[in-house]
Amino acid sequence: MVSIKDVRRSNSRLTEKPSGMVAVFVGATSGIGLSTLKQFAKYSNAPKVYVVGRSKQSASPLLHELEVLNPKGIFIFVETEISLIKNVDAVCEEIKTNEQKLDLVFVSPGFLSVEGRKETSEGIDMYLSLSYYARLRIVHNLIPLLSASLNPRVVSILAGGKENVIDINDLELRKNYSLAKAANTAATQMTLAFEELAKSYPMISFCHVYPGLVATGIITKFTGTFKGIWAFPAMLARWTLIPVLHALATTVDEAGERGLFVATSAKYPPAEPKDPHEVGVALLDGVEVAKSSVVKGGKGNGVYRIYTDSESVENEADSILESYRLDQVDKRIGEQTLEVWKAALEKSEA
Ligand SMILES: NC(=O)c1ccc[n+]([C@@H]2O[C@H](COP(=O)([O-])OP(=O)(O)OC[C@H]3O[C@@H](n4cnc5c(N)ncnc54)[C@H](OP(=O)(O)O)[C@@H]3O)[C@@H](O)[C@H]2O)c1
Repeated sequence: MVSIKDVRRSNSRLTEKPSGMVAVFVGATSGIGLSTLKQFAKYSNAPKVYVVGRSKQSASPLLHELEVLNPKGIFIFVETEISLIKNVDAVCEEIKTNEQKLDLVFVSPGFLSVEGRKETSEGIDMYLSLSYYARLRIVHNLIPLLSASLNPRVVSILAGGKENVIDINDLELRKNYSLAKAANTAATQMTLAFEELAKSYPMISFCHVYPGLVATGIITKFTGTFKGIWAFPAMLARWTLIPVLHALATTVDEAGERGLFVATSAKYPPAEPKDPHEVGVALLDGVEVAKSSVVKGGKGNGVYRIYTDSESVENEADSILESYRLDQVDKRIGEQTLEVWKAALEKSEA
């Protein structure tokens, strides 16, 4: 476990790194993303940050707070509904027009709902889009800019290490949908997609984080999705159970501190760094380089499945992920993802 003390010590050293980091945050208007963004603003040296969210008006106090935290920083809010692939493409084009390189992509948009499959106007389930299809499209589109950075990193806050059996014939869950299946499918696809990307882009580090239970508003919002006879018990749970859960959960501040640690520490280097001396904030005594999701001949692939304590999950030879790698499910997932993106764009143009 990386202690919170070490996390804080490492984060505070980010101020010593060169100025001008460029970052994109998606899903940082509340919760873990927001908390990480504030930490990033606090410690990075004259950064430029694109904050992608749904409402510029709602985010205006946040932008002001970021500017106060870091007067030398530039914070640009891009207003869009990011669950739509066509919007992802437009945002990425805007960033690519304005930037020469990108150091960090931090993605954490999402929600929980019992309302079942709900499609975006492009035909993708909204939960799967925010958790996987739109997130991965952002990363995919921004690879050229990430590749131009000396130390590029991608962080996705979802469920790294929680991968499990998925129905590879129903990845979009059109036949059999549940929130648990959607969460599992998104998490498993995310790790396997990162591993595919890391093969082609070994200079980029890919971090898939499971933050554990964090006291954000996500569960309160979740109870609001219960309808009919379940609405009242859900409301009771909101008043009784959630305060207890929040008391047991990681605070949102700590989740943000750990978010920044994952985004900047040398603990999570790419497989083939451009410069081995430039892989993030140097390790503190007693903190070791994390284990990649695949380690062959002592060499990691630069993909990390990271738990709530900021340590990575060991790669077990008998895991479901290993059998999916051997069966080339990762390749099929990559192909299917391209098909889903294509169909979404065709639908949005129709
Ligand atoms: N909190 C936990 O205990 C926990 C545990 C495990 C995994 N996670 C995962 O971590 C991620 C972040 O969770 P969190 O607790 O930080 O959630 P949160 O506080 O509810 O924040 C969610 C973010 O996603 C955005 N978002 C939600 N619905 C959206 C939509 N339809 N279109 C565009 N953006 C949308 C929100 O934007 P607005 O501000 O516009 O609503 C917000 O920026 C989620 O994927 C969650 O499943 C969380």
